[in-house]
Amino acid sequence: MAKTKTTFFCQNCGAQYAKWLGQCKSCNEWNTIVEEVIQKEEKRNWQQSSTSKKTNKALKINEISSEKEDRISTKNNELNRVLGGGIVKGSMTLLGGEPGIGKSTLLLQIALTIPKKVLYVSGEESQSQIKMRAERLKIANTNCLILTETNTQHIFRAIEEVQPEVVVIDSIQTLFTDYIEASPGSISQIRETTAELIKFAKETATPVLLIGHITKDGNIAGPKILEHMVDVVLQFEGDRNHTYRILRANKNRFGSTAEIGIYEMQNVGLREVENPSEILISQKDDDLSGTAIAATLEGIRPLMIEVQALVSTAVYGTPQRSSTGYDIKRLNMLLAVLEKRAGFRLGAKDVFLNIAGGIKVDDPAIDLAVISAILSSNEDEAIPQDYCFAAEIGLAGEIRPVNRVEQRILEAEKLGFHKIFISKFNKINTGNYTIKVVKVSKVEDIFANLFA
Ligand code: TYD
Ligand code: MG
Repeated sequence: MAKTKTTFFCQNCGAQYAKWLGQCKSCNEWNTIVEEVIQKEEKRNWQQSSTSKKTNKALKINEISSEKEDRISTKNNELNRVLGGGIVKGSMTLLGGEPGIGKSTLLLQIALTIPKKVLYVSGEESQSQIKMRAERLKIANTNCLILTETNTQHIFRAIEEVQPEVVVIDSIQTLFTDYIEASPGSISQIRETTAELIKFAKETATPVLLIGHITKDGNIAGPKILEHMVDVVLQFEGDRNHTYRILRANKNRFGSTAEIGIYEMQNVGLREVENPSEILISQKDDDLSGTAIAATLEGIRPLMIEVQALVSTAVYGTPQRSSTGYDIKRLNMLLAVLEKRAGFRLGAKDVFLNIAGGIKVDDPAIDLAVISAILSSNEDEAIPQDYCFAAEIGLAGEIRPVNRVEQRILEAEKLGFHKIFISKFNKINTGNYTIKVVKVSKVEDIFANLFA
């Protein structure tokens, strides 16, 4: 059909073959050989390319004008925040996440609310399925066109016809180009179709939003090079059994990767959560033992998170340790610290730990709250509801300082907490706050403060 030359390369050593092989003959690696285009037919895929052939000139750095990127602001503040202020024109954004987490819902919602002409291309769902989802979202819109297509040449034809200002593709793993024989989702197809879309995005200044599947271990399926090719990599995560979802930028050429967006999945789509702390802390009437609130940071956003612990006498010979939302190894480490450094006998007890709201935390500042919750459950004595914690625990049982502690204290103060426990080694002036800031240096201190 097309006058395109392809050949097969080993991804490991670069050896070249005329046909596909299971094992590379020169480096003996298995499954590393993929098809690549080496010579493309002229005037293919993106037609306008021939007219806009301009060559770039080298400039001195002070001659380059530093105007801001042209951004399209979406109606979705959480997404704008994560992107650094909106979608940059001509940029490629890749959104990854587990199946069923809400990637299609998020991008359809963006496509329906953004005040621009959008072409939403789906290779996964039929037009009527998408229509049904749009009805569920209850957003009226006449400026969003839906196309079900997987062939990039056909997609480019539709783009020329429709002239959209934003293009959404669901998903990159379903696309294929005529120029490569490999099946959709294979390494060579993903690389080639992404390259075609990038060329289109850069030459027409139209932003493209791509959905990407992830593999079992959480990486975006396909070649690693996919993440290098695009400008922004977003990750949509959360526990499918809970309603909260976190949107994170793993890579952002136009902004910080420290911002996060928080959503709640409702039956009318994703709702933006502006004040996450208030929902992540469960409502209760009585003081219950075994809960402690941690002042954590997700990226640069302060979040108050509830840690729940249950300590009970082991029923079976070997005590159980289980943890949801918190690293189990770190839990074991903290239990060992409590046992060895502070003399609490937890070795024969079952310990269960849970982070409320189904979110995962890796901020070490949560350690102190974890220990406090465990001690509270072990003593069966509640921690007052207006106390919170922000410090890391070291192997010697010392309470270590954490970064941006002022921001955490301010968030706690804003939400009406009366006492926050931090490390003695955090150099701040406690007199600046109306909330009472208590500095502690050892695990025993925290016990003395709470239960003695
Ligand atoms: P979806 O966007 O299809 O996930 P992905 O594209 O990441 O695979 O999300 C599907 C899930 O979201 C599905 O389990 C149903 C749920 N959902 C809601 O709870 N409310 C809604 O309004 C919509 C549209 C979906
Ligand atoms: Mg989907």
